[in-house]
Amino acid sequence: MKSPIRVAVTGAAGQIGYSLLFRIASGQMFGDDQPVILQLIEIPVDKAMKALEGVAMELDDCAFPLLQSMVLTSDPAVGFKDVNWALLVGSKPRGPGMERAELLKDNGKIFVGQGQAIDRNAAEDCRVVVVGNPANTNCMIGANQCKRLDPTRWTAMVRLDQNRAAAQLAKKASVQVKEVDNIFIFGNHSPTMFPAFAHATINNRPVPEVIGHHDWLKGEFCETVGKRGAAIIAARGLSSAASAANALVDHVQDLRTPGKIHSVAVRSDGAYGFDENVWAGLPVKTAAPGDYEVVTGMDMDDFAQQKIATTNAELVGERDTVKEMLT
Ligand code: NAD
Ligand code: LMR
Repeated sequence: MKSPIRVAVTGAAGQIGYSLLFRIASGQMFGDDQPVILQLIEIPVDKAMKALEGVAMELDDCAFPLLQSMVLTSDPAVGFKDVNWALLVGSKPRGPGMERAELLKDNGKIFVGQGQAIDRNAAEDCRVVVVGNPANTNCMIGANQCKRLDPTRWTAMVRLDQNRAAAQLAKKASVQVKEVDNIFIFGNHSPTMFPAFAHATINNRPVPEVIGHHDWLKGEFCETVGKRGAAIIAARGLSSAASAANALVDHVQDLRTPGKIHSVAVRSDGAYGFDENVWAGLPVKTAAPGDYEVVTGMDMDDFAQQKIATTNAELVGERDTVKEMLT
């Protein structure tokens, strides 16, 4: 049996937490031979800590063989102590009619404190994934406050957008989703994101050739994927939770699996015209477990270049908004 890894989850008593923790504890995220210690972090408010105790009772009641122990805390120094993975979910979700960027001022500061706490307390090999919105810019803030870890260890989640794009393409082409490949998300986790459909394939044939309807790809497809989060909020009255937790399982699994190519928001080094040091969704190829390289050299036509310029401008604008949170 491997020795256990320590996994911190913030916002553990929230909606996403409730879908996520059971999948980590059952082995779906880190493998069925990997014991885990869950370090669950919530805000220091009775209601939240009480709810967290309830979730921990349910985790106990699942009798998961891989769940070695749990830490329940509202102290980030305790919660991030020696963690190998930090999954930063805790933050405010948007309500109907809001854009994710409107959360920046409130949520951004959470990532100042958490970046510093991870800097001081996490294990040397810690990897961080940011889910709390606006995820790309929160990740930039956290990474910026955490000088001890290399910024490549800080990623934000755009995998939900990739999964949404694959599902939409499969529906349109009347195929099973497993027949769709190579659909990657460029840019921000916001309506400006660009699902690069020209490189996607269905049964190894280019998507534009299979679907044929180029106006749909450029218009309705991009819009549906970009605004899917808002559509779910309008329908459910709450933001996506189970699909977000599922995407986080995919994100971490694929980062642990050499050879996988998948969409991850990572620090830009200028590839595809993104400003250096914004966190942009890009296709990455996992090298060794946890390490990755950005896949470069994909041709971008005028339409794609313009979409990338738009989402880059939004990321640069968000960085400007939070400049006082950067060191
Ligand atoms: P939620 O309100 O149900 O839960 C959030 C939890 O975080 C709450 O329990 C709250 O007490 C806790 N929290 C708040 N501040 C905290 C802090 N500083 N430390 C620890 N815990 C803290 O929300 P949710 O539906 O679980 O969504 C969480 C976040 O994830 C939101 O910002 C949402 O917009 C975002 N989200 C991102 C994606 C994505 O694809 N990147 C997808 C879905 C949701
Ligand atoms: C999503 O994409 O579902 C989440 O980011 C929640 C939201 O605010 O849209």
